[in-house]
Amino acid sequence: MSSYLYQNVNKVTTNILQRMRKEGEKIAMLTAYDYSMARLLDMAKIDVILVGDSAANVMAGHKTTLPITLNEMIYHASSVVRATERALVVVDLPFGTYQGNSKEALNSAVRIMKESGADAVKLEGGIEIQESIDRILSAGIPVMGHLGLMPQSINKFGTYTVRATDPKEAEKTISDAKILEQHGCFAVVLEKIPAKLAKEITDSISIPTIGIGAGPHVNGQVLVLHDMLGITQEFSPRFLRRYHDLTREIVDAVSHYIKDVKEEDFPNEKEQY
Ligand code: KIV
Repeated sequence: MSSYLYQNVNKVTTNILQRMRKEGEKIAMLTAYDYSMARLLDMAKIDVILVGDSAANVMAGHKTTLPITLNEMIYHASSVVRATERALVVVDLPFGTYQGNSKEALNSAVRIMKESGADAVKLEGGIEIQESIDRILSAGIPVMGHLGLMPQSINKFGTYTVRATDPKEAEKTISDAKILEQHGCFAVVLEKIPAKLAKEITDSISIPTIGIGAGPHVNGQVLVLHDMLGITQEFSPRFLRRYHDLTREIVDAVSHYIKDVKEEDFPNEKEQY
């Protein structure tokens, strides 16, 4: 196994992410929503675990991330926190719990931190949510931003296609990234934007950028765990690298079990009392 600068830290913090950015060590982030998976990611020494609202899709089968509730996010987050010793755990504030007003945003973030024990929260948006970011930060809660394709705004975008390909949206994305930095976010996710734009943003702000479908010129990468392990099948955007075909492995194992039960091969003499 290769060794990296910060591999042996006992706990990844927002300061360590900043040091990784400065020293050129890429940040590796993956999603997790439950205890067992989070334990495996922490054993492998992932830097950041994101309890993403993509739980709405991969855990609950919803078409969008919009239906997941704050209570459901807290349930997923507290399961992940119980499994995690080393990784920084970041939790998405779900749709409708922070956009309306900054007091509600603070209450939602406080509930996540108090009830799950997570390390930080993530919010989608730029200038529109700056007051919410200020209020959450004023309570001492670290905030990660999220720009580019923002799945909570899918009904506004109308499509999951690559964002900010036109100069106006690209300019707004750059300006939003600067706003997030100025307001004190510790990092920002850049989702599905041109690699050139992601590089421009990364070069023009001093907080780590973490890309998903944003090319290589960012300070880190994030993928949805179930996509990169090949558990989800239907989703295959260009940026997704599948590291395993767990669908095949699980279906094979379950088929084998069914056969053993039907053919009275399981349990054998050693597998009984
Ligand atoms: O919810 C999620 O999984 C995310 C990642 C795609 C960055 O926000």
